[in-house]
Amino acid sequence: MTSINAERLKADLGSLGNIGRRPSGGLGRTSFSAEDTEARQWYFDRCAEAGLDVTVDGIGNIIVSSPVADELSDARRPAVWSGSHIDTVPDGGAFDGALGSIAALECLRRIHEDRLALDRPVRCIVYADEEGNYAHLFGSRAISRGFSRSELEALTGRDGDRFVDTFTAAGGDIDRAANAVLPEGTIDASVELHIEQGPVLEVEGIDIGVVTGIVGLGGGTITLRGRSDHAGTTPMNARKDAGVAAGALLASLPCIAAGVSERAVVTSGIVTFVPGGANVVPEAAHVTVDFREPTAEGVAALESALIARTKAIAAEHGLDFDIEFEETVPPAPLDGEVQSIVAAAAKGRGLRHIPIHSGAGHDSQNIATVAPTGMIFVPSIDGRSHCPEEDTKWDDVANGGQVLLDTIIKLANR
Ligand code: GLV
Ligand code: MN
Ligand code: MN
Repeated sequence: MTSINAERLKADLGSLGNIGRRPSGGLGRTSFSAEDTEARQWYFDRCAEAGLDVTVDGIGNIIVSSPVADELSDARRPAVWSGSHIDTVPDGGAFDGALGSIAALECLRRIHEDRLALDRPVRCIVYADEEGNYAHLFGSRAISRGFSRSELEALTGRDGDRFVDTFTAAGGDIDRAANAVLPEGTIDASVELHIEQGPVLEVEGIDIGVVTGIVGLGGGTITLRGRSDHAGTTPMNARKDAGVAAGALLASLPCIAAGVSERAVVTSGIVTFVPGGANVVPEAAHVTVDFREPTAEGVAALESALIARTKAIAAEHGLDFDIEFEETVPPAPLDGEVQSIVAAAAKGRGLRHIPIHSGAGHDSQNIATVAPTGMIFVPSIDGRSHCPEEDTKWDDVANGGQVLLDTIIKLANR
């Protein structure tokens, strides 16, 4: 049985984890930033060093193949895909996305080095902007459902930059980006390794999570509009204070989630007051919201509840409002056969495994709409993620990498 090179996987995670390191200890590799570009170049260099071929699709997803393995398999057949992302949230950790991206590369390297003759070709993928600086699960959405040119033109990032400007400056072509949907039959099956990002596997003492499905999610920006006034001279009862109204909206988020279900979550991660002076009553407040629930009905109910609450708060404070929500990403059940193959691979390596649901979003939920897709989770220490403390034990990293390789080989020979 072919084994991964766990030391190489560990060394690569360490090297990638130094790119975009901030004084806080967290990583900042926002998609298409200088740090993300450096990480992508680091990844291209690893592929070149290994003798692998790299292409970049119209939206910026990286697709890697082995000329040796392709020669030994029927390279015209739909391929087995595996990969994740190397962009990070602001002040993120070194494992979210990086693990699945480098482990997939390690698997392809081993297939290439051992000249494994598989029935189907294997492709290793790095999806662009998974963390949604421009749109949630951006790269996988572009190749599954697609973006029109006008949708791409409307996208802005956290820093207020327009996607088209940043993408074009980085050498991208918007016409190609708007035509990035994969031809039908490109992917035979897909599997992504990821850290759990929650506490279940660690608490239960389990090595491998076999992911059964991924949460549905939505999000966007709610803008409350009032009137700017002098902070010292305007009586409290004569204000149209968008900041105070935003506070009321934020305070209502736990109640909105609880009103939908126990598993519903709503988060506001960015609030911006305009014009933004300590002695100015805010004229406008931009409040981002991210909302998730395991069912499509739950996601729709959260969206409706947020709209209703915004209307009520705006009326109460005498304000206007705009709501711009992205298209929701539907919850995705993952493929039963891929789950069985992952579970058998874990068992074959003597690892304890359980079925687990994902509350985090992943590109796999978009890929699941075009091909049978599975995910493998490994434990996160203290369940922490999207923070500098995010960590996973090296034994768990190695276990996950090995189960991924065994699963890819099984899928490719199915
Ligand atoms: C990605 O990490 C997400 O769950 O938003
Ligand atoms: Mn993430
Ligand atoms: Mn991730």
